[in-house]
Amino acid sequence: MIVRRLMLRNFRNLADLCWSPHPFLNILSGNNAQGKTNLLEAIFFCTTGRSFRTRRDKEMIGWAGQECFAGAELEGLNSSFEISARLNANAGGRTTFLLNGRRQPRQKIFRPAMSVSFTPADLEMVNGSPSERRRWIDLDLGTFDARYQHSLESFERVMTQRNNLLKNAGRQTTRELLEPWNEQMFLYGSRVIEARIRLLKLLLPHLRKVFSVLTSGKEEISLKYLSSLPLEKGTKPEDLRRLYEETVRKGFVREAERQQTLFGPHRDDLAFFINGEDARKYGSRGQQRTLVIALKISVVKMFFGEYGDYPVVLLDDVFLELDRHRQKGLEELLEGEAQVFITSNRRLDGSFGGRGKTYTVAGGKVIGGEE
Ligand SMILES: Nc1ncnc2c1ncn2[C@@H]1O[C@H](COP(=O)(O)OP(=O)(O)O)[C@@H](O)[C@H]1O
Ligand SMILES: [Mg+2]
Repeated sequence: MIVRRLMLRNFRNLADLCWSPHPFLNILSGNNAQGKTNLLEAIFFCTTGRSFRTRRDKEMIGWAGQECFAGAELEGLNSSFEISARLNANAGGRTTFLLNGRRQPRQKIFRPAMSVSFTPADLEMVNGSPSERRRWIDLDLGTFDARYQHSLESFERVMTQRNNLLKNAGRQTTRELLEPWNEQMFLYGSRVIEARIRLLKLLLPHLRKVFSVLTSGKEEISLKYLSSLPLEKGTKPEDLRRLYEETVRKGFVREAERQQTLFGPHRDDLAFFINGEDARKYGSRGQQRTLVIALKISVVKMFFGEYGDYPVVLLDDVFLELDRHRQKGLEELLEGEAQVFITSNRRLDGSFGGRGKTYTVAGGKVIGGEE
């Protein structure tokens, strides 16, 4: 996937921009608070339909106005197309997406997501809270599955209702009260869990390979999905729903006491093991970072494996965070056909032999473009 042209109006501090990036490497340097991250966010938004910074579209609208436009001309393997979005700050104003000028639902346009981002916040994924690891699965892997987003949103809706019930009824909660919500919770919740496990399995061979390259073959990676349901090795997808039902039946008293939904994908987590040791507990900071880089690159590889094309790769300030050794590994692994955007508040020098350009971002504008 290649971004041929990016067009923005009132997207954060990028007031008016029309930019044709290089098809391979784009280095964006500039001082702080000039709009480098905003630019990556805009590319991410035009290729995934969401932001890597916020869940509220309205935050991306520049303070100068009530509306924002973001559009991109994209080139895939066999086709070129244009995606655009209009954001509206008015109360009740919704974001609308157009594909080649025709309005389409978000989930339909961005399946799969066409870019992978890597920001300093991602570096906390391994040692951060479980919600950050779930977010990673939902965002980076979920889009490989056609109905993942729908199942997840449906599950969250049901769970919110169910939580309200539990809170309101407190200790007076009865099994009958929860019954109407349980069916749907079991259905969507087990779909989400099943998909997560399946997608992680698909990712694992890529992750093993990438991690091995980054650590020069010295370290081995494995992972385990930690569920709030008592999954066992070999629990079949068709048994999941039943297991969910059973767990909730047995856990009724606890749920009534705690007044919240205690079982389901919203309580699950993921553990990584480096040479057999839990990376969160025993991994060094450097190992944890290497692991995050490996996870991101393996998503890129998995994308290629599935679709025969590369997603757009967005690296925000990450080179600053890496030592030379890992920088080298990252460069090596990304060397290929992917279009890459890298930001930095230093000048990154180097000659790209016609395979890249350097730009400066200043005051919401992109200038330069030296080969
Ligand atoms: N919705 C918005 N409207 C206008 N300006 C914004 C908006 N959100 C953030 N900004 C401004 O964008 C600038 C930060 O841009 P950013 O891309 O994060 O900088 P950097 O170049 O350091 O990555 C800040 O000056 C911030 O105030
Ligand atoms: Mg930044």
